[in-house]
Amino acid sequence: MRRLFSLAAVIDFALLAASLTAVSAQPVRPVITIKTEHVGMTLAVGADGRLYQAGFGPAESSFRVPGGSPAREVEAYPPYGNGQITEPSLKVIHTDGNTSTDLLYVSHRAVESEEGRVETRIELRDGHYPLRVTLCFRAYSSEDVIEQWIEIQHQEEKPIVLERFGSSSPVFQASGYWLTQLEGNYMREAHLVEERLTPGIKVLDSKLGIRAHQMRNPSFILAIDEPAREESGAVFGASLAWSGSFQFAFDVDWNNRLRAVCGINPLGASYRLDPRTVFHTPSMLWTFSSQGGKGGVTRNFHSWARKYGIRDGSAPRPILLNNWEATYFDFDEAKIVSLFDGARDLGIELFLLDDGWFGNKHPRDNDRAGLGDWQVNEKKLPRGLGYLAAEAEKRGIRFGIWIEPEMVNPASELFEKHPDWVITQAHREPLYGRNQMILDLTRPEVQTHVRKVIDDTFGPNPGIRYTKWDCNRYVTQPGSSYLSPERQENLLVDYQWALYDAMKYMAERYPGVISMVCSGGSGRVDYGALKYFHGFWPSDNTDPVQRVFIQWGFSHFFPAAAISAHVTDMGRRPAKFAVDVALSGAFGIDRDVSKMSAEEKKTVIAGARLYKERLRPLVLGGDLYRLQSPYERPQAALSYVSPDRTRAVVFIYRLGEEAFPPVKPRGLDPAKKYRVREINLPEGARSRLSINDQVVDGATLMEHGFAAPLRRAVESAVIELTEEGAQ
Ligand code: GLA
Repeated sequence: MRRLFSLAAVIDFALLAASLTAVSAQPVRPVITIKTEHVGMTLAVGADGRLYQAGFGPAESSFRVPGGSPAREVEAYPPYGNGQITEPSLKVIHTDGNTSTDLLYVSHRAVESEEGRVETRIELRDGHYPLRVTLCFRAYSSEDVIEQWIEIQHQEEKPIVLERFGSSSPVFQASGYWLTQLEGNYMREAHLVEERLTPGIKVLDSKLGIRAHQMRNPSFILAIDEPAREESGAVFGASLAWSGSFQFAFDVDWNNRLRAVCGINPLGASYRLDPRTVFHTPSMLWTFSSQGGKGGVTRNFHSWARKYGIRDGSAPRPILLNNWEATYFDFDEAKIVSLFDGARDLGIELFLLDDGWFGNKHPRDNDRAGLGDWQVNEKKLPRGLGYLAAEAEKRGIRFGIWIEPEMVNPASELFEKHPDWVITQAHREPLYGRNQMILDLTRPEVQTHVRKVIDDTFGPNPGIRYTKWDCNRYVTQPGSSYLSPERQENLLVDYQWALYDAMKYMAERYPGVISMVCSGGSGRVDYGALKYFHGFWPSDNTDPVQRVFIQWGFSHFFPAAAISAHVTDMGRRPAKFAVDVALSGAFGIDRDVSKMSAEEKKTVIAGARLYKERLRPLVLGGDLYRLQSPYERPQAALSYVSPDRTRAVVFIYRLGEEAFPPVKPRGLDPAKKYRVREINLPEGARSRLSINDQVVDGATLMEHGFAAPLRRAVESAVIELTEEGAQ
């Protein structure tokens, strides 16, 4: 316990008294605790009336609270100026030009919701200016997640300018900090990089505005005192619920204290805020595992996400067949209907028609034209989407479509009519991304247009049961012809909120339409967007060897139910390997069935059947344990364990030629006896697993494990553990 306390990133203050209430001559200064089952944050008001952070870590530690006025470096939400010299969370230019803000505690209140969540709101105000800043927290007790966001409003005579507006900025005190990020680029997303933080500021950010996560996901792992380990050690995990540019500034100061200022990237986003208007920051989600390492953090995020973070988090995801890699833009009605036939034979539950189904004057036959004109292409699909949906339904398959409603090609009727609707800057040659431009969602007509596109597409076609909402470029010229000159920098923030309104509209108006968020792969993967979606497309790179790494990275923060994993022939890997990699996520296929060999077909059919009959609830709803990291050796192993620990599935992927130490399952009940079976074996093949079909107790399995039954690279195995006697 003592060790836990020192690990707890607790800030030491010079204490005047052990208990504030004991100091009777002084008014009682509030101590505010934000607490879940195992995680807590304590805030306390100093003698100077400012709010300080006393601790952030294990809930069971009774954090010491400051007696006098602690160092300004541990102010809970440090504003710029008036004595504050560290990285600020807030910077305001007041109407009279004053650049400093000084926040004093006013009041706080905590309200418990019916579901046991506690929402705490702490009100601060400037000592002189009529500026109110509310620190808002929501504590999810059993999931051990603390959500924080900020609300800012003022009653100055004219607009103020917010130059900084972090969502959350906790302070940590430990001997060392190790930061892990998910970095990459298109086709190489979500790669883990860990480094030790040294004095000074390390910034992780995105400046892309839209498709903002193309090179970096807005999530990180922060390990305390030692590099992050998988199942031990004190580790924080964090994720910003924001699809736009973000900035995480990790500032290690002269006392080896770390402040992490997390929120929207303030670069190019100085926000002009009118009086009596509330500015909301996006939420920062924090979790902590005092001894459970990255695995503990992951399982907290997953159980939180399935309940609160993604749409219908515990509903099964349908097995999808997407035509993108099978046809690209080159299809017609007959081709699509023929794909339905193949899909039915494979055991597919839903067919997703990707890009290319729209545009007439400027047909969408390639990525140079048609975006914006969401009318069905009459040449390719003369009988419309309703016909396709009905044909799919005849074959027992649901039907879905791809959309990218916030974008436009200059070669489109929409752009011909409304050239001023796009994000661009005067006096600059327009820059395109994938030949397209972004519609300016701050403009009310554009908001109406996007809603109309949604209604015109899904309203008359109740047979459309799925959509993939894409976004294929980022911002390079952040300008709006709608916003006034002095509000140009409001663009990127207002755009995101308008985008969320459109996504919310879609989700609420068409609740039966399952949705995937995509952005040229995973350029938009965050809990701000995922509220409105059932899952996301992690990468256009579907080579299963690469997918082992990509899915591994995302798994740290996002549950399998959200991670679409499709079998394709990219990389030309053995079909069983491709299937086994896809089975560990939200399973789907991107193949033209008529082009598959009989052998491949058999493998995919068997995989789909297995997923439906045995694996889906376990993978989508089980607790994830990462057993062997592909970053340490060319072999990956991971497992899902059912909440009642009666069943588990272990996936093993061999990526190199060497043999490796035994795979040791985790999370089993040591006392339960499990039958161990290799499943998804090719027809007639015998398992090489030494304990195949044997009954072994959980303790032995976890201690000794078993040798991977694999002989060479790009082989894989799926091993099922079932409590003897259970189904
Ligand atoms: C993006 C997506 C792909 C596909 C294409 C269609 O690149 O990531 O999966 O939908 O758009 O143009």
